Formats: sequence, C-alpha cells, structure tokens
Amino acid sequence: MAMQVHHHQFDALVVGGGGAGLMAALYASRHVRTAVISKLYPTRSHTGTAQGGIGAALGNLEEDRWEWHAFDTVKGGDYLTDQKAAKVLAQEAIEAVIELEWMGLPFDRNPDGTISQRRFGGHTNNETKKPVRRACHSADRTGHMILQTLYQNCIKEDVKFFDEYQVVDLLMNDKTAVGVVAVNIDTGDLHVFHAKAITFATGGWGRLWWTTSNAHSLTGDGPAITWRNGIPLQDMEFYQFHPTGLYPLGVLITEGVRGEGGVLINAKGERFMERYAPTIKDLASRDVVSRSIYLEIMAGNGIKGKPYVHLDVRPETVNRYLAEAGESRRIDADYVLQKLPDILDFCRTYAGVDPVKDPIPVAPTAHYAMGGIPTDIDAHVIWNGQEEPVLGLYAAGEVACVSVHGANRLGTNSLTDLIVFGRKAGLQMADYCRQVGFTDLPPNPTERIEAELSRIRSNKGKVKAYDIRKQMRQLMMDKVGVFRVQDMMQEAVDGIRQLKEQYRTELAIDDDGYRFNTDLLEAWELGCMLDLAEITAVSALERKESRGAHSRDDYPERDDEKYLAHTMAYPQEDGQIVIKYDRPVDLSLGYEPKERVY
Ligand code: FUM
Repeated sequence: MAMQVHHHQFDALVVGGGGAGLMAALYASRHVRTAVISKLYPTRSHTGTAQGGIGAALGNLEEDRWEWHAFDTVKGGDYLTDQKAAKVLAQEAIEAVIELEWMGLPFDRNPDGTISQRRFGGHTNNETKKPVRRACHSADRTGHMILQTLYQNCIKEDVKFFDEYQVVDLLMNDKTAVGVVAVNIDTGDLHVFHAKAITFATGGWGRLWWTTSNAHSLTGDGPAITWRNGIPLQDMEFYQFHPTGLYPLGVLITEGVRGEGGVLINAKGERFMERYAPTIKDLASRDVVSRSIYLEIMAGNGIKGKPYVHLDVRPETVNRYLAEAGESRRIDADYVLQKLPDILDFCRTYAGVDPVKDPIPVAPTAHYAMGGIPTDIDAHVIWNGQEEPVLGLYAAGEVACVSVHGANRLGTNSLTDLIVFGRKAGLQMADYCRQVGFTDLPPNPTERIEAELSRIRSNKGKVKAYDIRKQMRQLMMDKVGVFRVQDMMQEAVDGIRQLKEQYRTELAIDDDGYRFNTDLLEAWELGCMLDLAEITAVSALERKESRGAHSRDDYPERDDEKYLAHTMAYPQEDGQIVIKYDRPVDLSLGYEPKERVY
C-alpha cells in the first residue's frame, strides 16, 4: 500500500517542542506564520526533566557578574568554548530569566521577593573562587516550569502545533533548506512541510549509552537527518556524564542537591571530593566529579563493593559540613522537601530510599551532548569551518553546537542556552522569512524516505532492533564513556560498523501496519543512533588529548598546540567520515587556556 502524502506550507517551521523549539516558535510567531512539529506532546519534551535551575548572574543573594558567568563557562568547557558565545549566553541570560518571570514562570522566591538562586557546579565568584548562587530555580522542576510557561505563551501567539508527528527527512533545494517530511504517528501518513526557514531543536541523544538520564525519545533524529543531507557535525566526542544518576537506573539526581549542601561520600565514609577539588569540592565541574566518582569506584571505594557512591543530603550531614565551613545557614527536613520535592519522590519510588533519612545511591549517567549541528552565534547552521551558512536552516538547544559549552557544559547552562539561542533562532527566522520568498521543493519530496521506510518494513532478516540497540548502547558505555583509550575506541568503531551492516541487511520488524507503528519508527531511530555512535567514536579516536568530558588514559594531558580547535566531522558520499580541525576556537574575550584548578 502506498503511503498517503499531505502538504502544508508555513513561513517558519520548528522541529522539536522542547524549550529551545518553543522559544524559537514564540519569537518567530510574533512576525510570521509558524508551526512546531514534535514527536511528543510538547509538554512531555525532555526540557521538562531539567531540575536544578537556569544560570543567570542576577546577583540576588550575593555579588555576581555576567563576566564571571562567562569565564566560568569558558573554564568549565576546558577552553574549547567559543568565547563570543559565552559572552552572549552570560549577558543575555539576565534579561532572559526576567522575561521568563514576566511570562509567568513561578520561580522560588527570596524573602524580599526576588528570584531565589542556589549554588551549582563550576559557578564561582571569580575573586574568592568560592561557589556563587547563580541557579534561578523553581523547586527542582525548573525545566518543567519553563516548558509549561513557553507552551502557554506559544498557544497565546497562535503557533500551530503538529503533535506526535515525527520528522524523518529534511528537504533541500541545492544549498537551501526548503522543508521537512514527517510521519503522522497516529495514521502513518507522510506530511510534507514547505517552509522558508526551519529550526532544528530536537534535543540530545543520550540513548546511545547504556546508563542515561535521557528519555526514550532522545535518539538524535535531528543531527542524523542533517548529516544525511551533507551537513557536518561538530565536537561529537564531547559527551557529558552527569555525576549523579540514581543507581542503577541513571535517572537524574540534580546537582541542586549538592547546591543545597549535599555531599558525595565513599564506602569509607570519606567526603572524597575534598581530595580532588580542594576549593570547590562537590561543586567542581561535572567532568571532574564524574571522573572522581569512577576513580573512587576503581580504587575499591564503591559502596558495598558496587559501582556507586552515596550522595548525602540528610540534614544532620549537611549541617555538620556547613558548620565546618563556617556558614551560619542550617537546613531541616522541611527545607529539603520544599527545595527538592521531585528528588525525594524519585528516590522513594525508584530506589526505595528516603533522602531525608538515607543517603542516595548515585553513579555517573550519560546526560548531555556538547557537540551537535554547527551554528554561528545567531543560530544559523553552517556548512563548514569557513562559516558558510546553510540558507534557511537554524538549530538551537542541545542539538546545536554554538559552541557555548566547549568540552564540558556547566550545570544550568543548558536551560540558559535554550532560552538565549532559541530566541535568536526565532528572531533570525522571522527576519529571514520577511526578506525571501518560498524556494521550490525538490520534485519528489518523499521519494527518499519512502524508500528507506519500505526497506525497513520489507526486510526479511531475523535480527530485532532491540538486540542491535542493546549492543550499541553497551559498546558506547564500555568503550566511549568517561575514560577512553585508543584500542577500546577502535573496538567501538569496528563494533558499530558491524552493527550498521547488520542493521542494513538483517533487521526485521514485526508490525507491518501503519497506525502507531512504533516498531517501524524505533527501527528508523536506531539507524539515526548508529550513525551518531559511529561519528562520536571516530571523532573521539581522532582527538589524541584529554579535554573536558573527553578523557583519555593514553593521552592524559590537554594539548592546546594541536587541538585548540573544533572537531568537524564531514559526511562523504561513500559513507566515510572525514575529520578536520578547521573551525578555530574563538578566544575573543581574551581568556587564554590555563590549567583548570577547582
Ligand atoms: O543537575 C541538574 O539539575 C541538571 C541540570 C543541567 O543539566 O543543567
């Protein structure tokens, strides 16, 4: 049976209904006809799981400056951060948070009515080097509140939503982006969307790894689609492991727990971060804390000999350390409940642990992609390190590599990123749409994806998608995880290539229907993940140094002589991946690379 094809036309299209997508849609929709296409109901997007806060140097509780925020972002990114992007992020964050407040976001408040702020990893007073309260929060549901607020505002602006439509192809006319093709998940029909400007805001791809904080939907569809259209991917080896995933599931336990005074403890009862980061301790940047946890586990200091440590936010523990640090503040069980209600709930539900009475079992969990679709600071997608723009195409949020997070993102900067750069994408799309007409669609816009979907549908092999997916996730966890070496990464590349071949020749699905055919769509998503896994492993193999989240036992030092440049992975027609370091790091704020001391 041929697939039904429907046609739509909008000035601006946004692919993805998370924070970046909704912000882009909100801004574009004030000027031009805008639609959001989302494979989930937008309010179920992964932004909703961001817990601890959005970083902005409001200085509500103590002195803070946007310059300190920018510097922390550069240092946290191990100097791979583009400094002009860090400046935009830190400067515009302040106004963006106030804007969210005016849109109705229910932030926690200080007694004087200002927005409450808490400490987070790597955010410091640059003079004292001590942690600074920069994370504006709404209990431990900040992302959820951002999502609800933006969605309501988009409805108010008459943004048209196509919910549970999965985008499966990008349409190009020569070097201009002209539309996308989506599957209506309910009916299985194909929908062609013709547009003048398109923003990809599809989020991350944590499902490549075995243990992850990411939802099932985070399969990297966006970057796989742009890659298949000849667009490079940048800095893919830099993938962040959040130090505190609930063991063994990997569900996020916010850094806000440590921001409120929680500490990491090993099997000997030691607060081990005092050894690894003597000044900032448990609030060092995430790469540092994740590696420290693994080093403790490898030294036999995991709890009960297992691969996890404890995160202790029991009031008596927190108060002891606050007193030791000479702080007058004390907390009690009610305070923990008020500031971390969802964390208490997750721990009780998924681990049978009550954080007010028991320490929480935690281990690093695959969390966030620093790399992605390369863009300039106005969210334009670029073709190469020479900054040549892909006309009509924008990207924002986790899927994009601006690069504002460099080799390691600071906690809270993801929410800041999606608000600041999502807004830029919306404004740029609106501006572009008002200047240009529609460029023609290619003659047979659904031909390529129809061929791909019917190939998956009719394959007569014996291998199931979940088997290949399981092997891929294990390979990535074991060989392209927190610690890396040449041989293991080579094994990952070889293994993934074998899995790709199996995917192409031996995969079979069971459901040959059209309505809600998640069997088909999950198999298609697996193809996206395999592409990204290969690009990640190849990019990691090529970068022979340690920097931020890319930590190699065989090259333990950072090498600024050779590698102070972005990794650009270029797709070739024959399926090869070519790596070049042809996009220099922007150092325009004048922060020269230094050793990172926390
Ligand atoms: O720890 C957290 O609440 C996560 C926030 C983030 O990834 O920025």
